[in-house]
Amino acid sequence: MQLTEIDHIAIAVADLDAAIAYYAAAFGAEVHHREVVESDGVEEALIKVADSSIQLTAATTPDSPIAKFLDKRGEGLHHVGYRVDDCAAALAQMVEAGATPIDHEPRPGSRGTTVAFVHPKGSLGTLIELVEE
Ligand code: CO
Repeated sequence: MQLTEIDHIAIAVADLDAAIAYYAAAFGAEVHHREVVESDGVEEALIKVADSSIQLTAATTPDSPIAKFLDKRGEGLHHVGYRVDDCAAALAQMVEAGATPIDHEPRPGSRGTTVAFVHPKGSLGTLIELVEE
């Protein structure tokens, strides 16, 4: 079994501060980590839920994947981050099972993690991010 935890659930939002304010009002939630990931064109705010997080994610550039997602689909569930012990091994097993990788090799993610994204086509319509701490 490669999966050790739901690392995070990522929600694409148009306005990160407004989304944080909504989660504060709706759930009393506080942000425990906020980071701009320049390479992905995103800014994310993490709200801890037990050992997992809700990741509110906004675009920082017009050509960011989040900007494209918002244009096409509007705000909403974007991807699920599955925590794994070995990102490369988990990616290889997914590809062996028929998944289509977006990242062919693990790469640096936010919070000092190592990540790889897998395309929704071939993975039950779900954009999956493998996350190794
Ligand atoms: Co993510």
